[in-house]
Amino acid sequence: MTITQSVPFALEATGVERRFPLPQEKLFGHRRYLHAVDGIDVRVEPGRTLGVVGESGCGKSTLGRVLVGLDKADAGTIRWNGTPAGAHTGAVQAVFQDPASALNPRRTIAQAIGEALPRMSRSARTTRIGELMGMVDLDPALMSRYPHELSGGQQQRVCIARAIASDPALILLDEAVSSLDASLQMQVIELLRDLQERTGAAFIFISHDLRAVRGISDWIAVMYLGQIVELAPADEFDDQLRHPYSVALRSAEPSIPGDEFQPERIILEGDPPSAVERPVGCRFASRCPVAQDRCRVEAPELVHDDDGRAVRCHFPGSLQLARRVVEGADA
Ligand SMILES: Nc1ncnc2c1ncn2[C@@H]1O[C@H](COP(=O)(O)OP(=O)(O)OP(=O)(O)O)[C@@H](O)[C@H]1O
Ligand code: SF4
Ligand SMILES: [Mg+2]
Repeated sequence: MTITQSVPFALEATGVERRFPLPQEKLFGHRRYLHAVDGIDVRVEPGRTLGVVGESGCGKSTLGRVLVGLDKADAGTIRWNGTPAGAHTGAVQAVFQDPASALNPRRTIAQAIGEALPRMSRSARTTRIGELMGMVDLDPALMSRYPHELSGGQQQRVCIARAIASDPALILLDEAVSSLDASLQMQVIELLRDLQERTGAAFIFISHDLRAVRGISDWIAVMYLGQIVELAPADEFDDQLRHPYSVALRSAEPSIPGDEFQPERIILEGDPPSAVERPVGCRFASRCPVAQDRCRVEAPELVHDDDGRAVRCHFPGSLQLARRVVEGADA
């Protein structure tokens, strides 16, 4: 069975883990693992976007790949629309950062987009490819061109058109706008939101760029060293944040002129601990500005509220964003 937009869809992941074996140092030595994704519970609603944010190496791409079935989980369950993942080939598509490497240089734009279309007559196919190009604001006159004849932004639109061609219920967008310049990023995000409204597809939008994530997501999962540390609605990603790491991430988001909310930057010292020898207590304790003794010995659980929010911290809300006084602003 192929899921189409008319069928309610949700992805639910419980206790998902993905670990990578390290090269063995001694022939009969103990096998060691890098725990890239470590006990993730998450849910994506139909027609909604789950944003995933966190610094490089925290496990975002690994999680995305596992959730959409491009990689296997070592533990946990993933269910699509209530049934085990894997049963719905074609219902999921993915768009990655580098469009040039995702497109075959010897195939025209029409051939690239047409790859994902079901069997149909030649004229129906050309019409459908033209429609899909129109949906991503690409001139259908580019149909017979090759990828190298298009700009990076146009190439990424081709990848998006190809991703929506098979009518997917879920699209993984992993750093899909990261290679584009700031104004083009916002244009593609607008386009994705518009496509979501029209097709009803759910998105998992992964980026290290919090502004882009906030621009498209309904809910945002903040990851740190393989775990979700906070799950919050995107429109409450300011004063209401409760995990110190989310607060630090938000404070570091570059402001743009006209931003109402301009937080004081919180600078985190040091690097995340090893994903091989994971700390006993809170994984963020070595960098957390409000850590206490308990944090170093007892690992906090992810605690869910009735409203769907979740936080993994013994002292949620103890670090707050401080508003910066903006010269020339009214308030
Ligand atoms: N195939 C693999 N084999 C071994 N280790 C891997 C593999 N894929 C990822 N890792 C490791 O898993 C961890 C998480 O990597 P991942 O690519 O998921 O991070 P990320 O959050 O997407 O980072 P970035 O923002 O840089 O893309 C990293 O330590 C990475 O080195
Ligand atoms: S549990 Fe402690 S160290 Fe961890 S984020 Fe909360 S306050 Fe900081
Ligand atoms: Mg990545």
